[in-house]
Amino acid sequence: MAEDKKMNASNEQAERETITTRQGHPVTDNQNIKTLGNRGPAMMENYHFIEKMSHFDREEVPERVVHARGTGALGYFETYGKVGNEPPEKYTRAKVFQGKGKKTPVLVRFSTVAGSKDVPETDRDPRGFAVKFYTEDGNWDLVGNNLKIFFIRDAMKFPDMIHAFKADPASNVPDPRRMFDFVSRSPEATHMITFLFSPWGRPATYRHMQGSGVNTYKWINDKGEAFLVKYHWEPKQGIRNLTTKEAQEIQAKNHSHATQDLYEAIERGDYPEWELYVQLMEDGDHPELDFDPLDDTKLWPEDKFPWLPVGKMVLNENPTDFHTQIEQAAFGTGVLVDGMDFSDDKMLQGRTFSYSDTQRYRIGANYLQLPTNAPKAKVRTNQARGMMSMRTPEEAGGNPHINYEPSMVGGLREASKEDRPQYRPHYDAADVMSQPIDRTNNYGQAGETYRAFEEWEREELISNLSDVLAICDPRIQEAMVQHFTKADEDYGRRVKEGIDAKMKELEAQGADERLPGQEAGVKSKYGEG
Ligand code: HEM
Repeated sequence: MAEDKKMNASNEQAERETITTRQGHPVTDNQNIKTLGNRGPAMMENYHFIEKMSHFDREEVPERVVHARGTGALGYFETYGKVGNEPPEKYTRAKVFQGKGKKTPVLVRFSTVAGSKDVPETDRDPRGFAVKFYTEDGNWDLVGNNLKIFFIRDAMKFPDMIHAFKADPASNVPDPRRMFDFVSRSPEATHMITFLFSPWGRPATYRHMQGSGVNTYKWINDKGEAFLVKYHWEPKQGIRNLTTKEAQEIQAKNHSHATQDLYEAIERGDYPEWELYVQLMEDGDHPELDFDPLDDTKLWPEDKFPWLPVGKMVLNENPTDFHTQIEQAAFGTGVLVDGMDFSDDKMLQGRTFSYSDTQRYRIGANYLQLPTNAPKAKVRTNQARGMMSMRTPEEAGGNPHINYEPSMVGGLREASKEDRPQYRPHYDAADVMSQPIDRTNNYGQAGETYRAFEEWEREELISNLSDVLAICDPRIQEAMVQHFTKADEDYGRRVKEGIDAKMKELEAQGADERLPGQEAGVKSKYGEG
């Protein structure tokens, strides 16, 4: 009897370990293609070989147009049952925040922005911090970064900004001169550049960085009242950033240190945690502030708008298949649940089109049916068909014949609005226009951030900026020094001195700092006037 059991177990194990084709056929030879004689040529009936090779030929999907380099993990979000000292329902009816100790599964993807899929993770770049909450009311995505603000405030500028930050289209070499050409004409970027060229532009690992939703959203409560809200993640592991020298030392040995760090920490049970905080404002324009609350180049001052803890996130599970769970993950700013809404923030509005648009291209029309993107809440929809559709009878609502709505005889119906007072934004009549906002205040907070840094951070900032600006066109140097001076006189003066010193150093070395493609003897690619 015991012998029989042993035999069965070993048969089962052998079966579990036997390689099959995707058709479920056991593969008896995975080393040799079928040929006429043992020296070839090969046969058309090589079904297993052709399937294996043609699938391999299609293994890659297009990389993300931005944030291509990333890694991810799974875990949960747990509520504190309060927003500061108030019950969450005072501000939002979103179920994900209600009650104490309530857990919602999450998927997180961390990333760098400008480089392609395999760039070193030590690059100076903002870091993406995207969280998908699989809530009982459907998915909520919070797609943010580690620096709390952004370079620009109008979505129209995003494609140009990314073109300038990515590699030169002719040489395919990244070039800071192109970046600063754009930035020097975009004064609103001064604040973000101040963060980016300080050590904050190179977090030590993903576990040791903050996250932030950056854009302003709305919370809606049970009465249909709206509040402006900003989200922030604070790492319980503490914040750690790298000096340029430290980053170079890591980069010389390892291009994937941040991915490795996260994966290994979770493998050894050292689960990283972040607390989620919100900042709240009454809905409205807030003319008393010297900045626009919808401007994503601005921080909301903490003394006026305190960070209120709402819960914590724990990452305790690594992906088992990176491509399936992380590469194919699709986050977007349009993915909100009841109790949340968009603000009029022009960047947020522009982003909300872009994410799902690119994902339909990058992964396909049915990207939301993949398990990593599908909600854990029930889906019932007449959205069907398209490539790779896997719509189930349950999703069809039990009547496979009625795939339209409304219907007298069956099929799916709209949800009731009765228990959900609607939030009705009011707009005063305004002319349609393409215009910047009024309260730009491009330099005030850049100066405050500069002054708030510790001296070693300021030194790094000046040295990093001087290194890249020393090789820029003189007009770009001048414009950047002006921006920094308007932020803080000491800041501008030190950058100018830094550029001069670095240029002397380069001259002494006889360094050739022509732009790629620029002919010898031509001073500037940008022309003379
Ligand atoms: C990824 C567009 C601004 C954070 C992406 C992707 C696009 C995009 C097309 C690739 C999505 C994919 O392939 O799945 C835009 C546009 C913006 C904008 C048009 C401005 C108008 C921002 C801002 C932030 C941000 C302000 C930070 C708050 C991210 C993150 C990802 C991402 C974290 C990576 C998501 C992931 O891990 O899959 N963005 N973005 N983006 N963006 Fe933006």
